[in-house]
Amino acid sequence: MERSGLLTGKTGVIFGALNESSIAWAIAQSAYREGAQFALSNAPVAKRLGTLEGLAKQVNSPVIWADATKDQDLLALFHELKEHYGQIDFIVHAIGMGVNVRKRRPYENLNYDWYAKTLDISAISLHRIIKHAMHTEALRSGASILTLSYIGAQRSFSHYSEMGDAKALLESIVRTWGSRLGDQNIRINAISQSPTRTTAGQGISGFDAMFEFGDRMSPLGNADAASCGDYAVTLLSDLTRMVTMQTLYNDGGFSGMGIAHAMVEPMMQILDVKKQ
Ligand code: NAI
Repeated sequence: MERSGLLTGKTGVIFGALNESSIAWAIAQSAYREGAQFALSNAPVAKRLGTLEGLAKQVNSPVIWADATKDQDLLALFHELKEHYGQIDFIVHAIGMGVNVRKRRPYENLNYDWYAKTLDISAISLHRIIKHAMHTEALRSGASILTLSYIGAQRSFSHYSEMGDAKALLESIVRTWGSRLGDQNIRINAISQSPTRTTAGQGISGFDAMFEFGDRMSPLGNADAASCGDYAVTLLSDLTRMVTMQTLYNDGGFSGMGIAHAMVEPMMQILDVKKQ
């Protein structure tokens, strides 16, 4: 992709890059290519599990370790960001984890402590991040906040389980905060992304089936992380300055489909339906 410089002069923070397959990693690479300067953040446990320091070198970023479910970590993060950049222009929230999903606990029999943790990490963390950003006056007028969702927020996908609830809450937080941020000229949107082979994505049982189904159903095929990075650039740029409170699909057209031709033949074979 050729550089357009859409984010030249903009500063921000990107949460959630764990390793090269992370969607936040791709967003960081696209934002860097377009001229943005930003800090990277992840939970302290990611030091051991991921390779964030490698990305930080590539994109010339400081790393600020913070657990996005902990108020004191986020407060410290925004103070540090302010020292580094003054006020910032964007926040990218690409954080998620389904604890019951990961531990293969079915939706009909959720462990409610894990469920609360799932909602805290995957949705309430967005609320918390914005709250601390506003209290520390970290965001400049014209700033853009972006989070990552999945169509399982709006429709039922059998294996997505508790994460469907978490994403529904996340998209609601986008609207509810969005209505309060407008008078400070700050906007917030969610990108609803295709199934993508990442650590969080592949933690979902049946992920391969969801991936394959998405790919066959979408006229353009599944959108990959790199395309999500490029779409994110537009939402962080001034070109989309009047767009807020939206869930926007980077999904190759999946959300507009009913039945795709590519699914008809295999379905007829599996169901042993005779051609008329
Ligand atoms: P990933 O596993 O690379 O990223 C998830 C990130 O959340 C990791 O970096 C992890 O360390 C971080 N995280 C977990 N707990 C945290 C905490 N307490 N504090 C701070 N960070 C924490 O996976 P991916 O797929 O890149 O996930 C990014 C976002 O994209 C998530 O919200 C996910 O639900 C969403 N998404 C993913 C899709 C997929 O198929 N992979 C599809 C649609 C949305």
